[in-house]
Amino acid sequence: MKVADIKKIAVMGAGDMGHGIAEVALLAGYKVAMRDIEQRFIDKGLSRIKESLDKLVEKQKITEENKKAMLANLQTFIDIGESVKDADFVIEAVPEIMDLKKQVFQALDAAAPKHAILASNTSTMSITEIASATKKPKQVVGMHFFNPPVLMKLVEVIKGKKTSEATMQLTYDLALRMNKVPVRIEKDSPGFIYNRITAPTNILLGLMLERGVATPVEIDARMKRAGAPMGPYELMDYIGLDVSYHIARNFSERLSRDHEPASWLKAKVDAGELGKKTGRGIYDWSKGRPEIDLSKAKEDFDPTVFTALQVNEATKLLEEGVVKSANDIDKAMINGGGVAAGPFQLAKEIGYDKLAKICDDLAQKFGIKTFEPTRTLKRGRVP
Ligand SMILES: NC(=O)c1ccc[n+]([C@@H]2O[C@H](COP(=O)([O-])OP(=O)(O)OC[C@H]3O[C@@H](n4cnc5c(N)ncnc54)[C@H](O)[C@@H]3O)[C@@H](O)[C@H]2O)c1
Repeated sequence: MKVADIKKIAVMGAGDMGHGIAEVALLAGYKVAMRDIEQRFIDKGLSRIKESLDKLVEKQKITEENKKAMLANLQTFIDIGESVKDADFVIEAVPEIMDLKKQVFQALDAAAPKHAILASNTSTMSITEIASATKKPKQVVGMHFFNPPVLMKLVEVIKGKKTSEATMQLTYDLALRMNKVPVRIEKDSPGFIYNRITAPTNILLGLMLERGVATPVEIDARMKRAGAPMGPYELMDYIGLDVSYHIARNFSERLSRDHEPASWLKAKVDAGELGKKTGRGIYDWSKGRPEIDLSKAKEDFDPTVFTALQVNEATKLLEEGVVKSANDIDKAMINGGGVAAGPFQLAKEIGYDKLAKICDDLAQKFGIKTFEPTRTLKRGRVP
């Protein structure tokens, strides 16, 4: 199958990501089937798509006719078999729970046409393991969109152990057709590029709060004063604390116990305080986006620590052969995070020796091995 042969895309899940991915596919001109397990979830997803398309009409990015045509191209389902029976490409965006993903892939394998590609939007989980639930692992791939899918450009295209080159290429080409910036991940590794590189930052955010080093407002205000569009704690709330929690648990099991979620994060998730989507998380979102008082900025906090941890983790991806080039990593981080420069571009400006020293200091201060500078960082030369 070539990308031009893809006519219909099925999306599993109408939640934060599923409805957004369905909208991206509609905007690219595809027929779309969106499936969720209950009508109320479908209705919510559908109204979010309509609201977003209305905004695009308002901004004159699309016409009213375009919008109508797109909505006519969208069908919704509760029955999984009906939703995928004539799909050429399926994108799964159900909650980040391995057993659930496997169940869904097993059902997709049975119900979707033989030629259909089955893609997962998982943030961290093993594509190889998800594919093991099917009889056609060559046609299973990672297609990882970023939140919100309509706005964020990056799509990570992930090769499981048995994913064929044809499936990788097709998925890459589909992302291009969707007006996205795809980046290939050659080895199925926890968190792929973006979430892996930001994972040590999350360890640090967890520890700073746990050990009373700083409050969320102090750090978020400092980062906003340094030019960040959103503070890191606010971003956690925006993405969903349950998402952060599941990602951290997954890293803890597969990479290192350093990633074990902080107890405050677990308590928030247990209490159902998940951030923006529940109206309360680290901040109160009940009246909209929280106001961060910039005068509370912790002036002695150096934002370069986040850069240092990101560059260090990025060098691990090159050392482990997960990604082919430093350029690909920069491209992923720029398009996944909406920042102006990637870690390797920043490292050249700041200096590898300075970054290695920061990582060394953090590793000692917090007793975290993940923060220790890599060979590449210490040598100051990218392979
Ligand atoms: N939220 C993010 O920022 C983000 C970013 C990238 C990737 N992801 C990944 O995308 C996936 C979905 O995350 P989300 O944030 O959209 O979650 P969400 O909870 O907002 O939505 C998940 C939806 O899936 C539905 N669902 C549950 N079981 C289903 C099934 N068997 N078939 C179809 N639908 C089912 C739920 O009812 C819910 O509506 C996860 O793997 C997550 O890690 C999330």
